[in-house]
Amino acid sequence: MSASPALATGATPLRVGIVGLGAVARVVYLPLLARRPEAFRVTALCDLSRTLLDDCGDRLAVPARGRHADLTALLEAGGVDAAIVLTSGSHAEAARLCAAAGLPTLVEKPLGYTLAEVDALRGCDLVQVGYMKLFDPAVRRAVQLLADRPQPRAVDVTVLHPPMDDQLAHLPAPTTAPRASVASRLDAALAAQRERALGPAAQALGTTYTDVLLGSIVHDLYVVRALAGDPKTIDWAVAWPDPAAPTSIELSGTLPTGARLSLRWHYLERYPAYREEVRVHDEEGSVELTFPSPYLLHAPTELRVTDRDGGGERSSTFRSTREAFEEQLSAFHRHATEGGSPIVTVDHGRRDIVTCQLIARALARQHGLEIGGEAEHAG
Ligand SMILES: NC(=O)c1ccc[n+]([C@@H]2O[C@H](COP(=O)([O-])OP(=O)(O)OC[C@H]3O[C@@H](n4cnc5c(N)ncnc54)[C@H](O)[C@@H]3O)[C@@H](O)[C@H]2O)c1
Repeated sequence: MSASPALATGATPLRVGIVGLGAVARVVYLPLLARRPEAFRVTALCDLSRTLLDDCGDRLAVPARGRHADLTALLEAGGVDAAIVLTSGSHAEAARLCAAAGLPTLVEKPLGYTLAEVDALRGCDLVQVGYMKLFDPAVRRAVQLLADRPQPRAVDVTVLHPPMDDQLAHLPAPTTAPRASVASRLDAALAAQRERALGPAAQALGTTYTDVLLGSIVHDLYVVRALAGDPKTIDWAVAWPDPAAPTSIELSGTLPTGARLSLRWHYLERYPAYREEVRVHDEEGSVELTFPSPYLLHAPTELRVTDRDGGGERSSTFRSTREAFEEQLSAFHRHATEGGSPIVTVDHGRRDIVTCQLIARALARQHGLEIGGEAEHAG
């Protein structure tokens, strides 16, 4: 499965099908696509919610024949050159269907919840995983700077996560739930994926695994990979006050260079603003990234570099208002029109599933839970 050079003229906009019209579609993707009419034209929509389909369809002038309640119907109807998958839950099956239809496909994180699902996609270069922070100019600059620095001694991550409602207060469109029959089918599929990933520990850690580890902490894992490599081990992890519904998680592990990773994630009910910090410390100084809420388009990530200079301390700051999601869409357009491998591949998504399973295993050990499924042998 590889991208078709038939799309490669670049002279006409890429006809895009959007699958999933929830918060990230309406706050981020649809506004950004609308800014690039020469590159993208949304010609088909898919969501379980009729209200969202009609609301977005009317705004984007997508005719009724381009509005679909399921992905198979969208693919059968045709009229799209590429797909962007923004549904909740695992994205692996949607990615597989789109790729089987020959469509270059951008799927939001996480790629999937189980290794079994993503193994069905292995080697598929039609699928780009939506790790937008890798396109953030501050992250790219940090990667360049680290290449010329001593080996990291330690990487520290801290995430301070207020409720989503605060971050989405500016969202204009309605939020609706799927019909009860569809919701119970989705719940059953999710329960089966958690069980496959974690075995008996899914009972207590299933939500923590899918919603916190693969839902939020995955962002930090792929940034850490870009800066210092994938964790080799996760030695210890704890979740509190309740491992089944944690508001805090702390973990530590080792990185390929021998550096240690420590990560703290806190969901804070009344914290004033989303904040995410990734710091790399070495013998001579530090390279630190501070990310704002992803929903604040163009709010700069701050890159701060501290070094010794003239017997004292010198620090410099880099900020760019180039939007990471927009850069990601440009890369997707290039991939869809020029072919080749995407920058963020199925393998990257798979590696983060492995790390989240290592974390779940460490949590199970810490909390006296029996682990099974894929996580028992992950790593
Ligand atoms: N990169 C980021 O910073 C970032 C930020 C937010 C969300 N996300 C990711 O984007 C995805 C969507 O997040 P959201 O906050 O918009 O979620 P949401 O719950 O607001 O919206 C999801 C939408 O998908 C629809 N949907 C679910 N299953 C479907 C199916 N099988 N077929 C068709 N439609 C379906 C739902 O009806 C809903 O409208 C998630 O995977 C999330 O992890 C990424």
